[in-house]
Amino acid sequence: EKGGYEHFMLKEIHEQPKAIRDTYRGRLLRNEAIIKMAGVEDNMKKFLNANRFVIVACGTSWHAGLVAEYIFEDLARIPVEVEYASEFRYRNPVINENDVVIAISQSGETADTLAAIKLAKSKGAFVFGVCNVVGSSIARETNAGAYTHAGPEIGVASTKAFTTQITVLTLMALRLARAKGTISSSDFRKYLLELEMIPKKVEKSLESDAHIKIISDIYKDSRNCLYLGRGYNFPVALEGALKLKEISYIHAEGYPAAEMKHGPIALIDENMPIVVIATKKGHYEKVVSNIQEIKSRKGNIIGIVTEGDVQVKTLADHVIEVPETLEFLTPLLTTIPLQLLSYHIAVMLDKNVDQPRNLAKSVTVE
Ligand code: F6R
Repeated sequence: EKGGYEHFMLKEIHEQPKAIRDTYRGRLLRNEAIIKMAGVEDNMKKFLNANRFVIVACGTSWHAGLVAEYIFEDLARIPVEVEYASEFRYRNPVINENDVVIAISQSGETADTLAAIKLAKSKGAFVFGVCNVVGSSIARETNAGAYTHAGPEIGVASTKAFTTQITVLTLMALRLARAKGTISSSDFRKYLLELEMIPKKVEKSLESDAHIKIISDIYKDSRNCLYLGRGYNFPVALEGALKLKEISYIHAEGYPAAEMKHGPIALIDENMPIVVIATKKGHYEKVVSNIQEIKSRKGNIIGIVTEGDVQVKTLADHVIEVPETLEFLTPLLTTIPLQLLSYHIAVMLDKNVDQPRNLAKSVTVE
């Protein structure tokens, strides 16, 4: 049932091109130049009249929410707040019938997310679910929703659920952007075309596996690791760090690259690996100067770069390439090498990759 892979996690990482395609199916209709999502169409007024969106989630799903914040704001010009469900539910949030709450959950059973939904509903908000498990508690409790079609995710560390959550949220943002007129129809067409290429580009990103294994072997005995990114890739840095922590038990932190000089730079020495997401566009030059700052403090840099990159290559100790894409779609590609890096390190350290200690696939208690 692991389909020839050594672990579910590796199988699920490799399933991402298919999972994203499955999530597009029936929704991304490029020839007709439309995005069709029943849960969005049926509630279009609610979405378009909302004062703001509040996204609630936990863990990796919260990271998908952060990526979505950038995408919704950038493309659809809708103000978005992203909250940990556990904080939202206990802090008497200011929320009313003019808010749309989007709850993201792979399992659909996370206790804090479910409680946040109930609270939002009691205040009159419209609640939309993005779940993977059909018929789950969250799918039933929400007013409407859109499923990710990732298929069953068995590995405790979330991989394909994350990229398909971003996929669903991107489709929503584009659909709403079109309805609001915040993007032109020619840009919309261009974006649909690029979305269609994403599964192939994820496949291409997976081809770095052997190279990532070599890098993993060099850094597997590190005690700490930093992940840096900016803009759309700041949440990817957080997600990369979480993946490493949870399955290899190496301490890791994700930061917006520019925050480094406000504290974490003090940690950098010759023993510190720093994964920097430095794809073209999206603040590239600024990330390059962050890399120079790290290099002058002897940190070891693993750069996640766009194919054909030269500037970062001359500075970094290692680079891992991903294909070029539109800036707002880069998280779907830059996530892949970070998943593989944490996977290989954990395997090399002989950890239980699919069932890391102290963690459960559904967190049904708060
Ligand atoms: C990380 C991970 C957890 C979950 C979190 C939320 O790899 O799996 O952080 O993302 O427990 O779970 P769901 O999405 O099921 O609500």
